Amino acid sequence: MILDGKALAKRLSVSLREETAAFTAKHGLAPCLATVLVGDDPASAVYVKAKRKACARNGFISKHIELPASTTQDELLALVHELNDDAAVHGILVQLPLPDQISDRVIIDAMDPAKDVDGFHPESIGALVLKRHCFVPCTPKGVMKLIEESGIDCSGKQAVVVGRSPNVGLPAALLLMQANATVTIVHSRTPEDVKKAVIGAADILVVAVGRPHFVKGAWIKEGAVVIDVGINRLDDGRLVGDVEYDTAAERASAITPVPGGVGPMTISQLMANTLQAARDAVAP
Ligand code: GUN
Repeated sequence: MILDGKALAKRLSVSLREETAAFTAKHGLAPCLATVLVGDDPASAVYVKAKRKACARNGFISKHIELPASTTQDELLALVHELNDDAAVHGILVQLPLPDQISDRVIIDAMDPAKDVDGFHPESIGALVLKRHCFVPCTPKGVMKLIEESGIDCSGKQAVVVGRSPNVGLPAALLLMQANATVTIVHSRTPEDVKKAVIGAADILVVAVGRPHFVKGAWIKEGAVVIDVGINRLDDGRLVGDVEYDTAAERASAITPVPGGVGPMTISQLMANTLQAARDAVAP
């Protein structure tokens, strides 16, 4: 089975559009996402453009701010405070990575947690750990939605997450555990033999390391569910995932393509989080 995130995101956007239209009609204002792009990283520009297009498609207001690569941390902080104080803005997304002179951490910490639709603020992550009401980071939330909507039950399964980044691997492991899987995290300090043995035992494998073809098809257990979060551009221009797709697809029972797997689900969940932020704002 191909886990078609593009098709699922399209299906989900039908109900999202209806819910957004109902919200807008009831409250006389549409949910608004502020996107902030600092500098001229071409990949970041592509991602932000896709997020703004999703806003337009789904009836959201998109407020976009572009700043030069020379922007200081204080200037960006002032903008974040301004957006925090703007009642018409429900969600704030500052595209990462930021230029070297700006600390991601300082900027994320300055954001109003009630507008943190990325789910990156320490309060959001803390609430996720404790299973409280929170914004769940969009990529791992999209991964779980793709698994659930494909009829795959995580309960009692051995789930392995490759990568422990705070925005993807770590929250993905938490969500899989909360869905009653037995979870193991493989990371850069996991010895080679342990890595292969753990990956080889996975019923559900989520890979988020950002290295092309890092996981070989031969390592994967027959019948495993393989979720590839990676999007890597090769020198020849091709986009490939973190998993060696062709060989993995021969062994997996279900696998995400790259592109068209997890990527569209991330944007779909960003929209869902922004609608949630708008709802919380009118009825906290
Ligand atoms: N850079 C790469 N992915 C993301 C994301 O999901 N959110 C933000 N803010 N920046 C990113």
